[in-house]
Amino acid sequence: MGRRVVVIGSQWGDEGKGKITDYLAEKAEVVVRTQGGNNAGHTIIFNNRKFALHLIPSGIFNPNIINIMANGMVINPVALLEELKVLCSQGIEDYKLFISNRAHVVMPYHIDLDDLYEELKKDHPVGTTKRGIGPAYMDKTARIGIRISDLIHPESLYQRLETSLNFNNMILKANNRRTYDIQELYEEYLKIGEVIKSYVTDTSVLLNKLIDEDKNILFEGAQGSMLCLDHGTYPYVTSSSPTAASVPLNAGISSEHITDVIGVTKAYTTRVGEGVFPSEFEDEIAKQIREVGKEYGTTTKRPRRIGWLDMVVLKHVKRINGMKHLSVMLLDVLTGIKEIKICVSYILDGKEIDYIPADYFEYQRCIPKYITLPGWEEDISKTQRFSDLPTNCKNYLNKIEEILDINVTILSVGPDRLQTVTLKNIF
Ligand code: GDP
Ligand code: IMO
Ligand code: MG
Repeated sequence: MGRRVVVIGSQWGDEGKGKITDYLAEKAEVVVRTQGGNNAGHTIIFNNRKFALHLIPSGIFNPNIINIMANGMVINPVALLEELKVLCSQGIEDYKLFISNRAHVVMPYHIDLDDLYEELKKDHPVGTTKRGIGPAYMDKTARIGIRISDLIHPESLYQRLETSLNFNNMILKANNRRTYDIQELYEEYLKIGEVIKSYVTDTSVLLNKLIDEDKNILFEGAQGSMLCLDHGTYPYVTSSSPTAASVPLNAGISSEHITDVIGVTKAYTTRVGEGVFPSEFEDEIAKQIREVGKEYGTTTKRPRRIGWLDMVVLKHVKRINGMKHLSVMLLDVLTGIKEIKICVSYILDGKEIDYIPADYFEYQRCIPKYITLPGWEEDISKTQRFSDLPTNCKNYLNKIEEILDINVTILSVGPDRLQTVTLKNIF
């Protein structure tokens, strides 16, 4: 029977979802992105070549795979065409790509509004990627958004733009920002519609057909569950839900079709942007991790904040996603660190807790309680079998499995596709 596997980011993003999706795609026939936009940055490395994807699903490198950008995404079509151009310049020209006619469009004014809203938050900005993601989702829920379908229906586009600009130009003008001319946008986006038309379809119909045909399907998460609008560290989150529960809605399939949920976690933790991060630390070891792990954002190049692995976070994420498998990434980055810490609970106002407080100030007051495990010195970057790992490395992984009550299914010991160890096949 075909498997339908959801790949979930289990922390605050950049866990290595792109690498694992590309790796698992070897056995898949379909790869689907269901939410977010070009705030995501997924790095994929194979055959000594490096690719950075922002909107396009990570199955794009295999000409036999059907890649779908589903209805829950917000798509900047200018950025999409640029991404396709870059891929083309890297020799990736033969692919199958479909875009949902119900996905929303990130318009240029959304990018200006993203900047403006961050400014209006004064001392408490979210630290967004400034890609217009939040304002595009705001328009979607306010029912003033523009959808991919509108780009190929001139009458709809004009009417949708009129409504959207009535709101958005007013906000921009009141804040002394540039406003947008409807005619100019109308003409420009109709042209874009012409260019992308051949990719556009009802992807829910397509996906259900592929499910009926029993295909192996991968759903590639963007962002991490701790950036979830509902279950993350609100308000320091993104504007969509990167959880398994969001997949059926954002792809237009029944929830009963999901067969597996695999969480992707770093062997430590990183975060970009603002917001609470209890296990964060900044010392020589953090610097070492940042340099060895090349912890600078794929999208914005910002240095990532570094922390120890946080099991309270992973338990929360396992619960909200129903994670049955875990993929542990960047294990090689911990090589050479004498003592490795794992956060096992928090101390909140003198009391030990093992959940994430909803109240932001309470979460900020949480002090991590750590256990310390001995590290390893051996180079593990060429390891192909779990049994070949140094004992202390195995103990570290066993401890994660024990605390989280989950099986580590995949291990990653380097950024390349080949630096991956499968402990249990999902497909
Ligand atoms: P994503 O957004 O979840 O797809 O992750 P990103 O691509 O933004 O960030 C993950 C980073 O870690 C990228 O630079 C990857 O090339 C790199 N990476 C992934 N797995 C490993 C690994 O096992 N070891 C090392 N050293 N780097 C890895
Ligand atoms: P991938 O898919 C890491 C963060 C931003 C900011 C917050 C809101 O590569 O894991 P937004 O632009 O979405 O309104 O920003 O979310 N963020 C990410 N952090 N990886 C990502 O994607 C992210 N996408 C958004 O840094 O803190
Ligand atoms: Mg990323």
